[in-house]
Parts: sequence; C-alpha cells; structure tokens
Amino acid sequence: MGNVTVIGAQWGDEGKGRVIDWLADRADVVVRFQGGNNAGHTIVVGNSTYKFALLPSGVVQGKLSVIGNGVVVDPWSLLDEIERVRTQGLTINPDILVLADNAALVLPLHRDLDAAREARAGAGKIGTTGRGIGPAYEDKVGRRAIRFCDLSDPAALETKIERLLAHHQPLRAGLELPEVTAEALLAMLLAVAPKVTPYVKPAWRVLDKAMKDGRLILFEGAQATMLDVDHGTYPFVTSSNTVAGQAATGSGVGPSGGGYVLGIVKAYTTRVGEGPFPCELRDEIGERLGVRGNEFGTNTGRKRRCGWFDAVLVRQSVAISGIQGVVLTKLDVLDGLDTLKICTGYRIGARVIDYLPAGLSEQAAVTPIYEEIEGWQGATRGARSWKDLPAAAVKYVRRIEELIGAQVAAVTTSPEREDIIIMRDPFRG
Ligand code: GDP
Ligand code: IMO
Ligand code: MG
Repeated sequence: MGNVTVIGAQWGDEGKGRVIDWLADRADVVVRFQGGNNAGHTIVVGNSTYKFALLPSGVVQGKLSVIGNGVVVDPWSLLDEIERVRTQGLTINPDILVLADNAALVLPLHRDLDAAREARAGAGKIGTTGRGIGPAYEDKVGRRAIRFCDLSDPAALETKIERLLAHHQPLRAGLELPEVTAEALLAMLLAVAPKVTPYVKPAWRVLDKAMKDGRLILFEGAQATMLDVDHGTYPFVTSSNTVAGQAATGSGVGPSGGGYVLGIVKAYTTRVGEGPFPCELRDEIGERLGVRGNEFGTNTGRKRRCGWFDAVLVRQSVAISGIQGVVLTKLDVLDGLDTLKICTGYRIGARVIDYLPAGLSEQAAVTPIYEEIEGWQGATRGARSWKDLPAAAVKYVRRIEELIGAQVAAVTTSPEREDIIIMRDPFRG
C-alpha cells in the first residue's frame, strides 16, 4: 500500500473532491498542496452536500488534514469555511487540521488587485475566480508575502507589511484603488492571528512523521493540468503548478512521496472562465451536458462551458503528470445521446497534430478531429458494477482508455458517494 496523488486532468471540476472522499476512507492524512480558495470541491453523502474551497476533503471523514506550503491561504475565508462546515456537523480542531507555517497568505489587497485587473482587461480578462490567487502567488515569488509563521512575530510583521506595501501602494494608485495603511493591515492580521495560529505547524514534519509511521497519505490536487501555470493554456491558467509533481514541493515530501498518480477525468470536457477550448459545444448538446451535469461553479456559481471528450488533452496530462490510472467521472451525464464524439487529434490549417501546442494563437486555431462512437439509451446513472453498464458505455470507456494511454481505475455514475464502479485500488499501485 502506498500514497496516492489525485489531480485534475482537464480544466478542473472533474470530481476530485468526490474521489478524495472515496479514497479518504482508507487514508490517514489528506493534504492540499497548491491553489487556494479558487478551488471548489463537492462531496455528496446521502442528504448532505459539502463544498470545500480550502479545507482538504478528508475532513468529511475526520482524517488528519493538512494545508501545505504550496497553498495560498485567505485566513478569513478559511475561518468562514470552518464555521460553515461545523454547522454541517463536521469537527475541525487543531488535532485534525494543520496549516503549514510557511504557507503564504491571501490578503484583501490581493483580491482588490485581482478584481481591478480583471475589470480593466475587458474582453482580454482571464475570468479568474476573483479570490486574489494570482496576486498572492506573485507576492510569494516576489519574496514579500506574509506567511503564517509571521503572525506570531509581531515585530517582524511590521517590517514585512512595510515591504509589502512599498510594492502595493504604487500599484494601487495606478489602478485608482484607495491606499491601504500599514496600521490597518497590521490590526487585521493581529486580530486574525490568535484564531489561526493554533493550527499552524511545520507541516513537512507532520508528514515526515506520518510517513515514517507507515501512514497512508492522500494528496488532493486543485484545478488541473490544463490550468497549470507552465503546462496549461497560458495565460488562461491559474497561478500555481497543478501537476502531480507539485504534490512534493507543495507539501515538503520528497519526489517519491506522492506515490500513485491518479488523474481525474470527466467523461466529457468543461472549462470555466476564458481561454481556448477546442472541443467546446456552443449548441444544444453543450447546453444539455451543462444541464444534466449541473455544470455551475461550486463556489462561484458560474456557468461552465461544455464540450466533447478531448483525448488529446488528457493524453498530454497523462504524460505531464505521470498519471498511472484515471477515474472517469460523470459517465451518467452522457446517458441518452445517440452519438458521442471523441477528439483524437487536431488540425491547424492543413497540418494534423497530436498535442496541444504551447502558443496561444496556435491553441486558439486548432480544430478537433473527431471520431464518432455509438451512444446508449439505457441508464448508467447509479450503476455500481460493470455488468450494470450498457455495452456501448463499456465500449466508450474502453476507447477512452486506449486513446489516453492510462488505465481506468474507476468510473462514477452519480454525485453520490456509493455510485462508483471500482476496477483497481489506487493504494495498491
Ligand atoms: P472538483 O473541483 O474536481 O472537486 O469537482 P466539483 O465538485 O467542482 O465538480 C464536480 C461536480 O460533479 C460536483 O457537483 C459533483 O457532485 C458532481 N459529480 C461528481 N461525480 C459525478 C458523477 O459521477 N455524476 C454526476 N452526475 N455528477 C457527479
Ligand atoms: P477546482 O479545484 C475550474 C480557473 C478560473 C480561471 C483561471 C484562473 O474546483 O477544479 P484564478 O482565480 O485561479 O486566478 O483563475 O482558473 N479556475 C478553475 N476552474 N476549477 C477550479 O478549481 C478552478 N480554479 C481556478 O475559472 O479560468
Ligand atoms: Mg471544482
């Protein structure tokens, strides 16, 4: 038995949260290693629906949950989320939740910057979640971020705030945003500090000990490969590395610590926000997928764009993240369609290519080459074993497996925890 890293293999919202919930049953620790409260992970158990932006999805099962150094954390949003899930009956305390002392904070000034830039970009906007994620990562890489560990060192915090504001004041003035005073920011941080510091620890040590004690760790990716700041559809990406390799750097375990790489793949494709999307369907089939799949953002409520399954993209994700197996989610959303299409290659003018190029103009210019495959009239919804699937649905799954070059470890057939067909145990590699 070994650790498992769960990552999105398309443009996010593949169902990572529900897969984590499935696996968390047998894991000892669940770790978030990148992103922030731009994520929205949904878990449905009976009549309860849990929505997480920052908390690792393992908290549903009371597992030790770690927010690693690679995450940018909005402490106010985190505290709100903790309160919200407590009202749903979940227990969150410092025995269950660990915040990495070296994780950088998302501050209100980051949200201001995110919103102001998007507003000014007009049609060129990224379509961010507006959570301040990009600006927070900029400050982290620019070595002027405030981190959790700074909250317990008020003297040093003042100096850090000055440094941070020296960068932000001119930016804010240029964007016609009101000045932020050092006193106000210091007061905000000192007020939030006692509420979060009980959770703050050297997370890498917690994980090191867990591994030495033979505990199983589940790494919970947010966003997805095509939103990765290096490998995605840049600049229409998020500001972190979302690929499996980030599990190690974003939590402080060695490169082999992530274990088996499980890619989460929706049985069709969605994307929320702007940017290239070769297989997008702007017709009634796209609408139908959106309605049947309830494709609205978990936290932002935005309508997701929908399209056919793109095997080129997923094959690329399999390579970039070293995906060893996938969970194919939302197969039920395709129930009742006469014909399905799978994208097997792209055309740019007369040229045929089998990958998504890095340049934005080329990405925007590719047109999909489709293979048609028979749909099914029976229902896959709620199926829990292979034998419950219509023959055409089995054929669809097998064809995807062949095209992407990775095994399907499981298929999900409704948002419900139990509606899953399991073929392979990711913990056994
Ligand atoms: P994540 O960001 O990858 O965790 O995914 P989200 O939670 O944002 O979006 C996935 C949505 O699909 C959620 O509303 C889930 O409840 C839902 N979902 C997950 N698996 C299935 C499935 O097999 N069938 C259907 N119909 N919905 C699913
Ligand atoms: P989960 O973990 C889908 C998208 C935004 C936007 C781009 C940049 O639920 O799969 P950001 O706020 O990160 O600067 O926005 O990334 N995006 C997501 N899309 N699922 C997510 O997370 C996303 N997190 C960010 O829509 O296009
Ligand atoms: Mg989501």
